[in-house]
Parts: sequence; structure tokens; C-alpha cells
Amino acid sequence: MAEMLRMEHVTTVYGINKMLIDVSIKVDKGKCVSLLGSNGAGKSTLIKAILGLVKVVEGKIYFEGKDIIHYSTHRVISLGISIAPEGKRIFPKLTVLENLRMGAYLVKEKKEIERRLEELVFPYFPRLKERLNQIAGTLSGGEQSMLNIGRALMGNPKLMIFDEPSFGLAPILIQETAEIIKKINREKGITVLLVEQNANMALEITHYGYFLQKGQIIAEGTPEELKKEEIIRKAYF
Ligand SMILES: Nc1ncnc2c1ncn2[C@@H]1O[C@H](COP(=O)(O)OP(=O)(O)OP(=O)(O)O)[C@@H](O)[C@H]1O
Ligand SMILES: [Mg+2]
Repeated sequence: MAEMLRMEHVTTVYGINKMLIDVSIKVDKGKCVSLLGSNGAGKSTLIKAILGLVKVVEGKIYFEGKDIIHYSTHRVISLGISIAPEGKRIFPKLTVLENLRMGAYLVKEKKEIERRLEELVFPYFPRLKERLNQIAGTLSGGEQSMLNIGRALMGNPKLMIFDEPSFGLAPILIQETAEIIKKINREKGITVLLVEQNANMALEITHYGYFLQKGQIIAEGTPEELKKEEIIRKAYF
């Protein structure tokens, strides 16, 4: 199985405080892998470590075998990584279409932008297609959340990272979002790292998961294995 992303014994700091401690995770090509943990566990910090946005004091990070630890954020993104960040980080004053185009800012060819809209965004988010000229700030919360994902897909990623896509959504929309993430992974073959507090949602669609607590990986395994872990049952089920 070809590996896409690997973190090896990564420790990061904010000032003098360690946040991630000796974290090792692996995401194989084509897989959907989850990173679970509660508020403040260090989930977003792990994403920032991949992007070169926090200080890594120990360990290695590889993307498709390349050591990316000293890469700039821009360079990491250009390798084929897209993030749907936590919250709804859209550009509220721009239209839906302008927001989507922002996700493909490296692309100049109009045809390629069209292709990505048609193949990567519209099949999964028909609601966005109906609202291309609407000002994004006037979309409903659920629609903004979809735009957040759609924009990241416009980067045509090899690896798509979702930071708590279920946050603030009603149960039915959480289910819908889970289905879309599953399809993006299974139909398009896009490798997924799904960061979630909602273990029920994440374990339903992922092949493998890691459980982060206070900056450390304290459990890992298949969804079946993780559901049996006492520490996770206590936290979630
Ligand atoms: N720039 C920073 N400087 C100092 N501490 C920080 C900084 N960014 C994050 N932290 C702290 O690091 C810890 C982990 O934060 P992080 O955002 O990674 O958590 P998280 O698991 O994503 O939580 P949530 O589910 O609430 O988003 C928190 O205690 C947070 O306050
Ligand atoms: Mg976070």
C-alpha cells in the first residue's frame, strides 16, 4: 500500500509549551483516516504542523516520501494538499462562484477551472450550483459549510484534510456531510484525513483512526477496534 502522509515522532511547541508530543500517524493512498479528539486535544495543531504553521521541534513529516518539514505552507499546498478549515472560513462578501475559484487560485486555464467545478464540486453540492451568484455571506450555515468543502476540492487535492466538518451542523446535515466525504474518497479516490470530535460520524466512514488526547496519540486502530477501546467508549459512546 503506497503511503501518502506520514508523521513520525512529531513534537511541536507554542512558546515553551509542548502541544503535540511524539505524534506518529500514517495515511495510506486512497484511504480515509480519522483523527479524533476533544476540544483542545491538538487536532488543529496537527494540521498546522503539516502545513508548516507551527514550530516542529522534533520528528519528521513526509508527503509521498518527501520530507516536507522545512517546506513553506505554499509549497506544501502545491504538492496536492487541500484543507477545509474549521469554522466556515469563506469570503462572505464574494459570490459563491468567486469563493470556489479562490480554491483554484494556482490555476490559470479557464477550462481546468470549469472541469473542477463540474467534476469535483457540482456532483456533490448541487445546492451550490444553484446559487453561484449569491453573496456567500448570505448562505445558510449549512450551505457555507458546503462551500468551505467545495472550495478546498477546487484545489484538486491528492490529500483532502477536513477540520471538524460536522461542527455546528444539525444531525441530518452531519449525516449528509459524512456521505459526501465518503463519496469524495471512494468515488474520486481522494485520500482523506478527517479531523473530528464526532467519533460516531467519523468512524462510520473511515478505514482507520487515531485518538488524540492532550497532544498525544493514545489509541489507534480500525473503527471496530477503536469502538472497543475503553478510553474512547468513556469519552464518546
Ligand atoms: N498560537 C497558539 N499559541 C499558544 N497556544 C495555542 C496556540 N494555538 C493553539 N494553542 C493551544 O493549543 C491547544 C490545542 O489547540 P488546537 O487548536 O490544536 O485544539 P483542537 O484539538 O483543534 O481543539 P478544537 O476541537 O476545539 O478545535 C489549545 O489548548 C490551544 O489553546
Ligand atoms: Mg481545532
